[in-house]
Amino acid sequence: MKVLIIGSGAREHALALAVARSEKVSHVYVAPGNGGTAMMGGKVENAAIKATDIQGLFAFAEKKGVDLTVVGPEQSLESGAVDLFRSSGKMIVGPLKDAAQLETSKVFAKDFMKRYDIPTASYSVFSDYDSARAFLENTTVFPQVIKASGLAAGKGVIVAENRDQAMQAIEDLFRKRIFGGAADEVVIESFLKGEEASVFVLTDGKEYRFFLPSQDHKRIGDGDTGKNTGGMGAYAPAPLVSGEVLKKVEERIVLPTLEGMRKEGVPYTGFLYIGLMIDKGEPSVVEFNVRLGDPEAQVVLPLLQTDLVEALEASLNGTLGEVPFEMKAQSATTVVLASRGYPDSYEKGKLITIDPKLEALDQVMLFHAGTAYVDGQLTTSGGRVLSLTALAPTLKESIDLVYNAVGFVHFEGRYCRRDIGAKAIF
Ligand code: AMP
Ligand code: GLY
Repeated sequence: MKVLIIGSGAREHALALAVARSEKVSHVYVAPGNGGTAMMGGKVENAAIKATDIQGLFAFAEKKGVDLTVVGPEQSLESGAVDLFRSSGKMIVGPLKDAAQLETSKVFAKDFMKRYDIPTASYSVFSDYDSARAFLENTTVFPQVIKASGLAAGKGVIVAENRDQAMQAIEDLFRKRIFGGAADEVVIESFLKGEEASVFVLTDGKEYRFFLPSQDHKRIGDGDTGKNTGGMGAYAPAPLVSGEVLKKVEERIVLPTLEGMRKEGVPYTGFLYIGLMIDKGEPSVVEFNVRLGDPEAQVVLPLLQTDLVEALEASLNGTLGEVPFEMKAQSATTVVLASRGYPDSYEKGKLITIDPKLEALDQVMLFHAGTAYVDGQLTTSGGRVLSLTALAPTLKESIDLVYNAVGFVHFEGRYCRRDIGAKAIF
């Protein structure tokens, strides 16, 4: 069969690798893909179509006779990729646009969680500066978390430590409109204490299967310091999400979410990302995302033992409860190699060199994000450039292996965190 993967990050490279491993698959197209998917060869090739050009993607899928499409980024879902493909009877993994509101509208997600008693931070919604200001003037407890309701490329959340910062945030959102229409509505919510973790499920709307729980590292600096980023590294399984915690996540979050979405006539299908805050073993939802996370996908997908394509097909033909969904008895760590300066401005076009010794490490995978492969040369083209993953019997070994492998990849200004996974080693 022929599979189309929409997106261009390391997450989509990891999806392409998992899909290409399936014996059922003859062709994998990645649109638009990146330098890494361009270099994979064999079954895999890029198609130069933007992830939000839904009509273009659909025409391509028709022309090539694509059997199954997998959507990576939320922007494609918000653009209605699943609606269009499904309305023409094409198999596609992801939620319909209305169901994708769990991520694309924080107001929808918060109101939904409130209706179904799903644990999350208490909140208020504002649609103008003056009422948000009045609210903050009467607020005595800080931090408060201020969020643009719509999609803001992962940047629309401000944790305001005090009233001044909170006032600045609403000024930026409502008056300077730094996120444009994404901040027509703004959520102000209470600050949750605890430790964060990511739990992903694959669901057909009713049945669901869990991937291994993972943990992202969002800050740029070691020890979780400095600015927020798209994610600097991840590991799985995360011991923080014990069997007991996962049971609570299932009963208090997954079941009511899927049931609630069905009840409201917008059954949720595809990957659901549950961003958790866990405090003394009690999980609550920080956010829902309607896709796999990046960099978490670069650890949870390589740890999946089952053929991903079989599981995806099962999620589309009503047999998800019947297929195996097995994980390797290993741990994985991924370290993001970024351009110096990221998440602020950085230079592009740096030559990337990879020591051939890296190839010999068969438990190590190099996933590309901001790379370009032109005329046989690999160069940097983004902030997060590469994501290097290692699998090993234990987390400690996977950390050692991945940091050893980092030494085999070079480009000018290469930056990575040195403590990915460290907080899970006791
Ligand atoms: P989001 O885009 O909703 O995931 O928010 C980005 C980051 O902001 C999260 O990963 C958390 O680190 C932080 N955050 C968001 N909401 C809260 C909250 N209510 N309490 C504490 N931290 C939060
Ligand atoms: N790892 C955070 C995200 O994918 O949104």
